[in-house]
Amino acid sequence: MMKEKWWKHSVVYQIYPRSFCDSNADGIGDINGIRSKLWYLKELGIDIIWLSPVYPSPNADNGYDISDYYGISSEFGTIEDMKKLIQECENCGINIMMDLVLNHTSDEHTWFIEAKKSINNPYRDYYIWRKGNADNEPNDMTSCFGGSAWEYSQETGEYYLHFYHKKQPDLNWENEKMRAEIWSMMNYWIDMGVRGFRLDVIDVIGKIPDQKIKENGPKLHNYLQEMNKKTFGSKDMVTVGECWGADTEIGKLYSAPDRKELDMIFQFEQMQADQIEGKQKWDLKPLDFIYLKNTFAKWQRELEGKGWNSLFWNSHDLPRIVSRWGNDKQYRVEAAKMLATVLHGMKGTPYIYQGEEIGMTNYPFSTIEDFADIEAINMYYERKQMGYSEKDIMKSLCTKARDNARTPMQWNTSYQAGFTEGTPWYHINPNYTKINVEMALEDKNSIFYYYQKLIKLRKEEDILVYGTFELLCPEDKHIFAYIRKWNEKIWIVICNFYEKSTEFLYSGKAKVILSNYKQETTISLEQIKLRPYEAIICELI
Ligand code: GLC
Ligand code: CA
Repeated sequence: MMKEKWWKHSVVYQIYPRSFCDSNADGIGDINGIRSKLWYLKELGIDIIWLSPVYPSPNADNGYDISDYYGISSEFGTIEDMKKLIQECENCGINIMMDLVLNHTSDEHTWFIEAKKSINNPYRDYYIWRKGNADNEPNDMTSCFGGSAWEYSQETGEYYLHFYHKKQPDLNWENEKMRAEIWSMMNYWIDMGVRGFRLDVIDVIGKIPDQKIKENGPKLHNYLQEMNKKTFGSKDMVTVGECWGADTEIGKLYSAPDRKELDMIFQFEQMQADQIEGKQKWDLKPLDFIYLKNTFAKWQRELEGKGWNSLFWNSHDLPRIVSRWGNDKQYRVEAAKMLATVLHGMKGTPYIYQGEEIGMTNYPFSTIEDFADIEAINMYYERKQMGYSEKDIMKSLCTKARDNARTPMQWNTSYQAGFTEGTPWYHINPNYTKINVEMALEDKNSIFYYYQKLIKLRKEEDILVYGTFELLCPEDKHIFAYIRKWNEKIWIVICNFYEKSTEFLYSGKAKVILSNYKQETTISLEQIKLRPYEAIICELI
């Protein structure tokens, strides 16, 4: 049998360094802070750390605006600290996945500083320039953070393209020399010992701005194949691309092994289950639960034997799942475990975002002053101008703002939640006195230990990794249930997604593998009464 890829049994843990752990009391999490917590990640059992950007950056977008791909931001430490982190991770069996932002650089990257100087500058063509005049942008493409995607540049009287902040000019992937520089840089990190890459908004690198093509441009997959060949393709690494615009057909193009592109992608179809179709993420609607589970199921079915899924609820860009689709009050613990069960029971590589494993919640924002993220602030003023009410804007922000995920990690009940001995760069959620790592580690029924069990199961049970997936009761309004099959084994995952008790009907008997409530070792599936947010993984016998 072909040797299967190690990352199929793996669980990834995303660290947002700024908010993880501060080692030198300047209020900003850093690499040495991460090093001091490796014992904790080891205890949880994860295999890979996805490290959000630690490169030098003016932080217009918290590090997703890189000014030097080869360095480490002094806020986070030194290249020596990074080497130590890689080594110490290796010693405890953890691999590092670096976050690479290749669609754009910071406007303070030397390439851009050069490029904007003159039309003839050798770096000019590393970016995308178009004529226009001081009042007329080349076209009406817009930035994800609001306003036009074009910024006028005084020096040469031309506009440059930026799909994100104006301090994040888009790179011109048509330029072969630019691509060659990217490959060298990636190889530099590979040689240093990183074992994976997470590629930021990779689905827009093939853009054709003159035809207003942004996602999934015609040369996108050529670029990825070239990248694979020139960098990680011959190495035993793991790669994941962030692709907001992917459907299942596109998902297969990226992740089918014989195409030699990436191992998997982040797609966001199911994460749009609470937003009005065709509108922005701020345009809220109640969760469409039927859509949610059918979308997950569609990806499971379509990629079966053809590609590989990544499984996630959270990231530094998404609100906290227990607040979003669970319950962050009376049933926080049950709901967090149920959501973990739904996700980790499926086929794919699961991702945990820091704090998810202790059930961290959204932040209780009260005014616009509470936000740090450029996306939130821009949206506030844009919608104010458009006449939206303060109440509606704040509701969207409280529900969806990325800052919900970016509050510092809650380690214990001491000063500043144990995150820093100084003044934290951002608000700490006041609920740290009840929700924190120390208390989770002391309670054997905590969310933490439930995640630990799920991670362990994935290593021990091939059925979780290789078994096929089939959604049960797709039209049921409360239950998310599915079957996994592998060789002779059949597992059923049964989750009550809501607070209201409900009933699940099936047949036969099953041995309980894991549950978030006390259960008998064997249960009858004829008629199960499911309590609030109850979750069961069981094996048919
Ligand atoms: C990705 C990142 C996000 C960032 C954006 C621009 O979506 O995850 O945090 O703002 O790309 O780089
Ligand atoms: Ca620090």
